[in-house]
Amino acid sequence: MKRIVKESIGEQIYSILKEEILLAKRKPGEQINLRKLAEELGASIMPVRDALKQLVDEGLVIRKPRVGFFIRNFTKQEVEEIMEMRKLYELYCLNKYFDKIDRGKLKILLEKSLDEKDINQKTKEFDELDENIHDLLIKVSDNFYLINSYNNIKNLIIILRHLIEDEVSLAREEHTLLIRAILEGNKERAIEILENHIDRVTNAIIKLF
Ligand code: NI
Repeated sequence: MKRIVKESIGEQIYSILKEEILLAKRKPGEQINLRKLAEELGASIMPVRDALKQLVDEGLVIRKPRVGFFIRNFTKQEVEEIMEMRKLYELYCLNKYFDKIDRGKLKILLEKSLDEKDINQKTKEFDELDENIHDLLIKVSDNFYLINSYNNIKNLIIILRHLIEDEVSLAREEHTLLIRAILEGNKERAIEILENHIDRVTNAIIKLF
């Protein structure tokens, strides 16, 4: 029987880089110096190059011939298009599957949200909560194709989310209002809050481009 092998160096490098890109610790458009990166990671060039190629396949890194690797950048139009798709998916699911949304899970998310100590800080907990709330709306569709196509842009949504650092307390408030509206069974209000939330986030991101 085949045994599970420990994660290879290439896979570890891939995971590290992917997380840094998703968290926007490496900024969109930034050039990657292969030699320097390998040095920083304490690895040789080969596995770093392999990891970057994998990220190119996923659309998170761009390779310009004879120039090198760059972190994926966005145009203003791309930001608008991604956020339009996000709005389309989330509002559609909220509207169509409103009654099916797991109220128990929502209550847990609401408690976690109210539990947070530093409401102005963009913490890892806040990111997780944000992602969980929006994911819940999509997953409730139980539609394989819909979930898949949302997941296709999800990495990009995560990067964009990390480009804006301010207005965390506002986002928290909006998430809380959204969950409360769903728990109260007020569908119209929930849709209004979600739409405003995505529009506000979109405008904040677009300002950067
Ligand atoms: Ni949100």
